[in-house]
Amino acid sequence: MPATDTGSTPGAALELAPGLAPEPTVSYQLRVDGARHQVHGAWLGASLLSVLRDTLDLTTVKDACEQGRCGSCSVLLDGRLVASCTVLAADAEDAEVTSVAGLRPSGPARAVAAAFVREGAVQCGYCTPGMVVAVTDLLARRPDADDGEVREALSGNICRCTGYGRILAAVRAVQDERAGR
Ligand code: FES
Ligand code: FES
Repeated sequence: MPATDTGSTPGAALELAPGLAPEPTVSYQLRVDGARHQVHGAWLGASLLSVLRDTLDLTTVKDACEQGRCGSCSVLLDGRLVASCTVLAADAEDAEVTSVAGLRPSGPARAVAAAFVREGAVQCGYCTPGMVVAVTDLLARRPDADDGEVREALSGNICRCTGYGRILAAVRAVQDERAGR
């Protein structure tokens, strides 16, 4: 459990309407891509996405909708795919957070990222980090996923640019490569 901070900022209290209590803040550690980060005095309600990007400056995790609807902010939380904008950062204290940057050195994610580039599945690239995390997760669980399963697995990841055809082609290319086809 993160420690609730006891101190308050005198100036901050002055900005609150009369009768409103100051927002609770907490301090905790996050483990992201194998590195430990100390987070001091974060709002208790801060999302994992906002702490990753705005506090820890880990901007490979993309912020698009902040409502759990687009998948741009996808990370693995103890190996489970989540939209980091829907997770409280303080709740991730004891977990291993893996972003696309943490996946990159390993073989499967490298192959997925390379296939995205080769197959033209990247245009603006805003959705790409989340897509690569989601595809890597899918192929780890279902290496032979068929088209329907791939579409279902990526249904939470919105791409505004590619029309998805090249993304599906990239997933098939990784599967073919692994199968030696
Ligand atoms: S920014 Fe998290 S799902 Fe869109
Ligand atoms: S490439 Fe632009 S959102 Fe997917």
